[in-house]
Amino acid sequence: MSSNKKFATRFGVIAATVGSAVGLGNIWRFPYECGANGGGAFLLAYIMFVIVLGIPVICAEFVIGRATGMNVAGAFRKLKAAKFWHLISWLGILASFFIMGFYSVVAGWCVDYIWQSATGFGQAASQTDLHAQFDSLTGDAWRPLGWTFGFLLVNFFVISRGVEKGIERMSNLLMPMLFVIMAAFCLNSLLMPGASQGLEFLLKPDFSKLTPDVLLSAMGQAFFSLSVGMGVLITYASYFKDGTRLVKTASLTAGLDTLVAVMAGIVIFPACFSFGQEPAAGPKLVFEVLPSIFMSMPGGRIWGVLFFVLLFVASLTSTVSVTEVVIAWLEGEWKISRKKATVLYGIGVAVTAALCSLSFGVLSGWTVFGRNFFNLLDFLSSNILLPVGGMLLSVFVGWVLDRSVLRRELTPEGHRVPAYVPLIIFSLKFIAPVAIMAIFVVGIL
Ligand code: PHE
Repeated sequence: MSSNKKFATRFGVIAATVGSAVGLGNIWRFPYECGANGGGAFLLAYIMFVIVLGIPVICAEFVIGRATGMNVAGAFRKLKAAKFWHLISWLGILASFFIMGFYSVVAGWCVDYIWQSATGFGQAASQTDLHAQFDSLTGDAWRPLGWTFGFLLVNFFVISRGVEKGIERMSNLLMPMLFVIMAAFCLNSLLMPGASQGLEFLLKPDFSKLTPDVLLSAMGQAFFSLSVGMGVLITYASYFKDGTRLVKTASLTAGLDTLVAVMAGIVIFPACFSFGQEPAAGPKLVFEVLPSIFMSMPGGRIWGVLFFVLLFVASLTSTVSVTEVVIAWLEGEWKISRKKATVLYGIGVAVTAALCSLSFGVLSGWTVFGRNFFNLLDFLSSNILLPVGGMLLSVFVGWVLDRSVLRRELTPEGHRVPAYVPLIIFSLKFIAPVAIMAIFVVGIL
């Protein structure tokens, strides 16, 4: 895709960026991180990071992407940045590999659950049966691998069709559907017997739970969920037209993304308490709680199928953006055709994903710091690579990038420099780098 390709409409820009942000990160990862890290306190820290770090760093990526119209590596080259800053693009490419590896496995589980919902979860009659069903899926060698590869095929098919035909059309159609269905599920959960306990867990912060670990996880979750820190938004912004308002698009993306995460919390936690399940169950949380919801609802099979189809779609609009970073780079920097780039990167991702999938079964003995391969890639990308990328991006845009470029890109066409521009610059120069560094120091050491 050369730099003259653009998203065709304003709605398409929003649908594609929100499509990238909203995904398994909101519906699968947010509830389990929130559940394992103290509920309300995590949510509060999360929202704070979205506002103070997330929105400014999204703007930083948008500015780089639109000002240059290039892929991650090309952008730094065009800005004549010193060699050091090219590190950001290498980190982004590594993060893309890692994220695709574990993410497509979870997307594969969703496909299996579409089928399981349709059959009413087979013989499952109790919570124990549902636990057993999840373990038997993830512990199996071929079944999850088959779904994961199927998911990857669809992903790379969409990618091979290019920005306007593939990414934009798919997002325009599917993202609005997702909001409507999520809203219906929220209503259903709010009517459950455990609703008040679940809501209290999600919304009432217990400040004693705000440990350095929880802060690190909340920051990682914010970066992951907003798709920020690895060049996805640089790449997408290179397809924005001059008239696209960057700060407005950034705020809208952050707002809608947070809304979907909170909605997912409202769906999951009341059900958790109603069915006597543990909010801290980890990555399997939604796969064990949701089926209980569906089994207790009239027409549950249909709702279940709808929900997992929706998760599948939300995953696809996200993985397409993660993939686009590497494809645009292979095309732009290495002059490889889009089709060839798709095949090359696809093979690399398939191998990584296979290792992640098998790390719940035959490879479960391979652990690093107590984490299997899947959990390791999840932790490294969200909690390390994306925040480090975000820190470097904010320093680059705040301190190195020509200030006039920054002001011009952040100011809507034909307007005077709005009052929020200095605020964003201040965050990029001081708040974001210092906060990210501080959380690393306390959270990791
Ligand atoms: N934000 C996506 C989600 O929440 C995942 C993602 C991470 C996409 C990083 C792009 C880059 O599912």
